[in-house]
Amino acid sequence: MNQTELKKLVGQKSVDWIKDGMIVGLGTGSTVKFMVDELGRKVKEEGLNVVGVTTSNVTAKQATELGIPLKSVDEVDHIDLTIDGADEISADFQGIKGGGAALLFEKIVATNSKKNLWIVDESKMVETLGAFPLPVEVIPYGSQRIFDRFEEKGLNPSFRKKADGGLLLTDSDNYIIDLHLGRIEDPHALADYLIKQVGVVEHGLFLDRVNTVIVGKQTGPEVLE
Ligand code: 5RP
Repeated sequence: MNQTELKKLVGQKSVDWIKDGMIVGLGTGSTVKFMVDELGRKVKEEGLNVVGVTTSNVTAKQATELGIPLKSVDEVDHIDLTIDGADEISADFQGIKGGGAALLFEKIVATNSKKNLWIVDESKMVETLGAFPLPVEVIPYGSQRIFDRFEEKGLNPSFRKKADGGLLLTDSDNYIIDLHLGRIEDPHALADYLIKQVGVVEHGLFLDRVNTVIVGKQTGPEVLE
């Protein structure tokens, strides 16, 4: 199986965790896309009754087209389960997310969810976080100053750009600064530093947040809890 097939495998498998009547957080990304497709099929063909809470405009569009009923995070008093992808998961179950620039809504939905399930192909499982650039969402005003501060601190920042070379805007009209760190020795200390910087809206370190991971392997989906 290639990487896309592994993503499809775990995306489809994860829908087994969604039970009738649940309020479900729907993540973002190419792996989640397979999950949402399968959920849409179950809603349509099997009458599965769920409410989805989406984490990006892209997922909201897909879910709406599939007929999955949606509410915003502010319209529900709880979320039973959120299923999302990840860019890296370390041996101690910490994660980097935000490769799809949806980290802010993803973290809001994850924080308000009773359980979080991540779905990844095996290439995302690492010993230590940091090879994947760590996304930091910043408001545009003053973002060059934050960039300079990150540079002085040796965090190797780069503004995320679109294909046409312009700066990428998130669903909340913010910028993403990616930190090219190579290795993150102390994710909690880094998370603490980042969130204290004025103008930083959120960062892609998702720490102490996930309950279950489904890893797509050549031998089949492996469930880690
Ligand atoms: C989006 C994310 C995604 O979940 C993450 O980038 C994984 O994406 P993919 O399933 O396409 O590999 O955090 O902000």
